[in-house]
Amino acid sequence: MSEKVVLAYSGGLDTSVAIGWIKEETGKGVIAVAADVGQGGEDMDSIQKRALACGAEESIVLDLKNEFAEEYCLPALKANALYMDRYPLVSALSRPLIAKHMVDAAKKYSANTVSHGCTGKGNDQVRFEVSFAALNSDLAVYAPVRDSAMTRDKAIAFAEENNLPIDVTKKSPYSIDQNVWGRAVETGFLEDIWNGPIEDIYAYTQAPDTSKPADEVLIKFEAGKPTHIDGEKVSMLQAIEIMNERAGAQGIGRIDMVEDRLVGIKSREVYEAPGAIALITAHRELEGVTVEREVARFKRGVEQRWAELVYDGLWFSPLRKALDAFINEVQEPVTGEIRMKMHAGVAQVTGRKSANSLYSYNLATYDSEDTYDQSWAKGFIEIFGMTTKIASDRDRRL
Ligand code: ARG
Repeated sequence: MSEKVVLAYSGGLDTSVAIGWIKEETGKGVIAVAADVGQGGEDMDSIQKRALACGAEESIVLDLKNEFAEEYCLPALKANALYMDRYPLVSALSRPLIAKHMVDAAKKYSANTVSHGCTGKGNDQVRFEVSFAALNSDLAVYAPVRDSAMTRDKAIAFAEENNLPIDVTKKSPYSIDQNVWGRAVETGFLEDIWNGPIEDIYAYTQAPDTSKPADEVLIKFEAGKPTHIDGEKVSMLQAIEIMNERAGAQGIGRIDMVEDRLVGIKSREVYEAPGAIALITAHRELEGVTVEREVARFKRGVEQRWAELVYDGLWFSPLRKALDAFINEVQEPVTGEIRMKMHAGVAQVTGRKSANSLYSYNLATYDSEDTYDQSWAKGFIEIFGMTTKIASDRDRRL
């Protein structure tokens, strides 16, 4: 077989079946690419072997954990990125990175087609395919689940007929996607939006528990990047991993929401992102101390736009790049330390320290050291409120 397809391979039922399915449908050989973005669970060696056992010509496993943390999670942290004010973009951040490495593999193996196991109803198909097109517009895309109706039942039948080394009974009732930035759980009984999440679906967090002792953490940032936790130097990846552990033990970062997908559907999503939520909480607070008011106000709009763009699959867009230039500029003074108490589902900042602080004790205090001349305020308010006063007077007259 000379023509080849590069497949985003997870090791699960759908993409394992996809290997043989793609061969049958297209006559092309499959290069399976599995990415380690810190999802944990099964070891990557077994995943690599399974792809070969399912008929892949090549099976590649890539450790992308550091690249994901540095190049994708860190920009998201600097942007305090929360889609619809809540979702830290877990899956949305990983897809462009995986796509990038698939495009690299396509070049290396002279493949002309790339493939993924997404359905036609979600955001991930968009994120993959917009990224493929941005990186190499000559590549064709084939998505068997969407393009040739490879349904769950057909996939199970295919796995059984072909004796694929995959336990079809182990397939979870949920659709789960996870990486070091967090974990997404959908479908199953959660599709009834009145049903509350059960403890069973969580893996990164323990249930919030007031009877557990609180955990206090010190996080140092340099230009918006976490560099030390409790005095220990950390990489971005380590910072996320440590905070996943510690904030997760306190039940922080559980999110249950109905979300607006790009394809127009509202969907029920349960997330857990203890590290992401704890780090964003600390980072935001340090920005509050070190970023000038007008910049800070403007950045809030930028943050929302950034989150929407990335959610919508436009990671490789010129606007994301341009917004990142603004965000990085704003991060320059965001250096200092945050003390945070984590307890029973809540991350609460209790202290902040920075050589770049814009907080002035002498201006803020009501004590004798006060250097603020209160007589300035009277004239300021007269002029500041003038247009509102004039317009209101007019409206009362009419
Ligand atoms: N709704 C989230 C998003 O669009 C999570 C998607 C998770 N993907 C999955 N295959 N379960 O980013």
